[in-house]
Amino acid sequence: MSADLRPLFLAGTPRETRTTVEVRSPYDDALVARVSAAGPVEYEEAARACVAAAPVVAALPLHERSRLLRVVSTALRERRETFARCIVQEAGKPLRDARTEVDRAAMTFEVAAEEARRLPGAGEVVPMDLAQHGEGRFALTRRVPLGPIAAISPFNFPLNLVAHKLAPALAAGNPLVLKPASRTPLSALALAGLMHEAGLPPGALSVLPMTRETGDLLVRDDRYRLLTFTGSAEVGWAMKARAGRKKVVLELGGNAAVIVDEGADVAAAAERVAIGGFSYAGQSCISVQRVYVHELAWDAWLEAFVPLVEALVVGDPMDERTAVGPLISADDVDRIETWVREAVQGGGKVLCGGSRRSDRIYAPTVLTGVARHAKVCAEEAFAPVVIVERIANVDEAIDAVNDSAFGLQAGLFTTRIETTLSAFDRLEVGGLLINDVPTYRIDHMPYGGVKDSGLGREGPRYAIEDMTELRLLVVRR
Ligand code: SIN
Repeated sequence: MSADLRPLFLAGTPRETRTTVEVRSPYDDALVARVSAAGPVEYEEAARACVAAAPVVAALPLHERSRLLRVVSTALRERRETFARCIVQEAGKPLRDARTEVDRAAMTFEVAAEEARRLPGAGEVVPMDLAQHGEGRFALTRRVPLGPIAAISPFNFPLNLVAHKLAPALAAGNPLVLKPASRTPLSALALAGLMHEAGLPPGALSVLPMTRETGDLLVRDDRYRLLTFTGSAEVGWAMKARAGRKKVVLELGGNAAVIVDEGADVAAAAERVAIGGFSYAGQSCISVQRVYVHELAWDAWLEAFVPLVEALVVGDPMDERTAVGPLISADDVDRIETWVREAVQGGGKVLCGGSRRSDRIYAPTVLTGVARHAKVCAEEAFAPVVIVERIANVDEAIDAVNDSAFGLQAGLFTTRIETTLSAFDRLEVGGLLINDVPTYRIDHMPYGGVKDSGLGREGPRYAIEDMTELRLLVVRR
């Protein structure tokens, strides 16, 4: 095996192929590794192995599924630094955020290990005698594994968003074929190695870097019972249309918003938004992109927020001090530069940043007075850009938040219970965070969006529900 060539992971076995893809550092374009890519032949082998493994994985006792998951969680903790540096290299994520991602992935596996002990086997007794013709019958339900699962993961959390697919699939008793993001396949391949070392049955997992065209075989293939995709809204919804008879779970994008109410702790809000808007250069689906601030809090907000953004350390993601590193590609720097220019031409004002620092890095930017339809406001920016706008009251802010194609999570800083409850009623989102940013996610909570932001929820317990189905037993006595 040549030094810089990483094999793909086909049904428990490393495999080199003739076609390779280069993984390059988003920071300086250095070659990190070459990775074997699957073609239709390797894909078919993986799909067959996955189908054959379905009864084997389904028959794994719950304690064994739980043990496997716990072993992987422990191994991730033990190899924290190796995984974190791998994430920095392939994704350009600042080291301290990469370490957090490894910790989160370990927790995702740990939570799935706990869920494996209770949920997949759980069911309920159905009271049949609610109706007269149900008398004399006893019924119960249990959840059974769904079967082979197809998964496609994005570049921005190359370990933990893979964990969110693999861990619940195994807890639920299902085998899986994963296409990792082409730019960031290394963490997923290393994770597959850990699962194999832990004793996963061989056919139960394949991790196949492949082109979109080959990946489309996975999307269309009716041998899978579920397709779980995390990525852009455009790609996700188009994929659903090609997915045939299988269930589809979509974790898609957003242009997440925060509302800062009169009387809220503005300094605390500014600190949280400076993190939630700029971590990993805004390349998270729940990155803060829009902030609506009550007019009575506006001056204090600007005074607190803009200096915090100006003080963010920008640069090499391998440097422990760096808060904002590169965008995933030079094209994304071009794109966001164009979007900001358009916003400014449309009347927007730059409060800080507003330009590139290099081919790879865009400066943390705050804009105001941006038209609602401007791309940087209405579309998913996935870049270190936050728009702040002054509003007359929270009702107006809620309308502004809802005036979006997306609805993933929102944040509201307020001290008022009535405002909290009314926002919870009215905001069209999958999750509302009070006195926090929408960027907050802990891995056992239900996570997912409405509108263009997706379909279904992740978080091991909720994913296991999708990855199992209800089976009913009725006994006539
Ligand atoms: C995402 O970008 O969809 C996931 C964000 C997270 O897990 O923190």
